[in-house]
Amino acid sequence: MKDRFYYIMTFGCQMNEHDSEIMAGMLEEMGYRETEKRAEASIIVINTCSIRDNADKRFFGSLGQLKRLKRENPDLIVAVCGCMMQQQHIIDAIKQKYSWVDIVFGTHNLHCLPELINKVINDRQKIVDVWDEHRGVFEGLPSKRKYDFKALVNITYGCNNFCTYCIVPYTRGRERSRKPEDILSEVRELAADGVKEVMLLGQNVNSYGIADGFDMDFADLIYAINEIEGIERIRFMTSHPKDLSDKLIGAFRDCDKLANHIHLPVQAGSSKVLKRMNRRYTREDYLELIRKLREATDGTIAITTDIIVGFPGETEEDFSETLSLMEEVKYDSAFTFLYSIRKGTPAEKYEDQIPEEVKHERFNRLRDILDAGMADNNKKYEGRIEKVLVEGSSKTNIKTLTGRTESMKIVNFYGSRDMIGKIVEVRITEGKTYSLVGEVI
Ligand code: 5AD
Ligand code: SF4
Repeated sequence: MKDRFYYIMTFGCQMNEHDSEIMAGMLEEMGYRETEKRAEASIIVINTCSIRDNADKRFFGSLGQLKRLKRENPDLIVAVCGCMMQQQHIIDAIKQKYSWVDIVFGTHNLHCLPELINKVINDRQKIVDVWDEHRGVFEGLPSKRKYDFKALVNITYGCNNFCTYCIVPYTRGRERSRKPEDILSEVRELAADGVKEVMLLGQNVNSYGIADGFDMDFADLIYAINEIEGIERIRFMTSHPKDLSDKLIGAFRDCDKLANHIHLPVQAGSSKVLKRMNRRYTREDYLELIRKLREATDGTIAITTDIIVGFPGETEEDFSETLSLMEEVKYDSAFTFLYSIRKGTPAEKYEDQIPEEVKHERFNRLRDILDAGMADNNKKYEGRIEKVLVEGSSKTNIKTLTGRTESMKIVNFYGSRDMIGKIVEVRITEGKTYSLVGEVI
């Protein structure tokens, strides 16, 4: 049979990255091969994100570009999936304006992709199949990993937190956890396959197992994975501060494989704004967690965060509390976002929306403080010897290797390509704002 190719475009978070790996696995099982060239593909899948406004815009831009390809190759199958498809107004827009889309499916029926493709091929009909709710956790799906040496592992799906700005609880549904034995056997298989680093994924990993009434909580899961031979690094994302337990903080002390880094989204530094966001912790609660994490790790843990600038009602005084929290915590890195209205969330209805120019101006001030803190933190790495998992060649210079420290810092250094996928010791020679430079020892 002639080779048939697929091309997957992925927007958004690591959950989506992993969903795309699973779709790639299913397509490979169907006999398709991956291509980097859209024009060569018989199937194009766009896996969408709806977390912020610009993600929507980028999706419709990409979809527009496929019109020509479909005209040139009417047999091309265009499939769209992911968070955006869980919103009716998006499906309506696709039906009205993007007639070249063949399959629309959602976050709850990813595993149906092969069946949907076969239907389109056999019946030559367009399909919209989006489930409103999940129907359990699906196990045993194949996956084509992006990297040989590190892997993403889902531990929970969905979210029950309903932060007032966030669309995720509506697009990904209620929180449910995979059974511990399913996760552990997947990690064992990954280790046997040569994987050194696992990233445990969930919208809020800290509430793992609670809604499902499991005996094992998230910290127990880390302790169990720490025992799996072959795995050298454990990471997780994302942690909600309200559910970060002392037991998990203890795991940073006890589990040698748990990477010395935590991503702990704060979102805002003012307790008033946090309350309106329905985050269910105060500035003081958050700072206490940071204190405990630093105490448990002798001050060595790297801390990163997410921040939203310009949430409705954020005054200059509220914002100055975010800035002072930045100065106090001195983050190792942060994802910073301008607040954008998400249709169907409570904050959409808040009347005190902040003008765009005010958001932008605050955003720039925030970035300056963050960058100064990051540069300071990175300078402290100079002279240290770090264990670096080598990921590939650097984007800017093919002769340079790039990898990550346990604390998630990017390190660039000269080395041979056979180091890719291995953990090597690197002496840090320069700490820049966004990365480190080093030499192999
Ligand atoms: N506007 C801006 N940022 C948002 N995030 C989630 N929803 C919004 C929104 N409506 C950010 C939060 C979250 C991250 C994944 O995206 O900071 O932690
Ligand atoms: Fe969204 Fe809040 Fe759930 Fe994170 S915890 S996915 S920000 S609702």
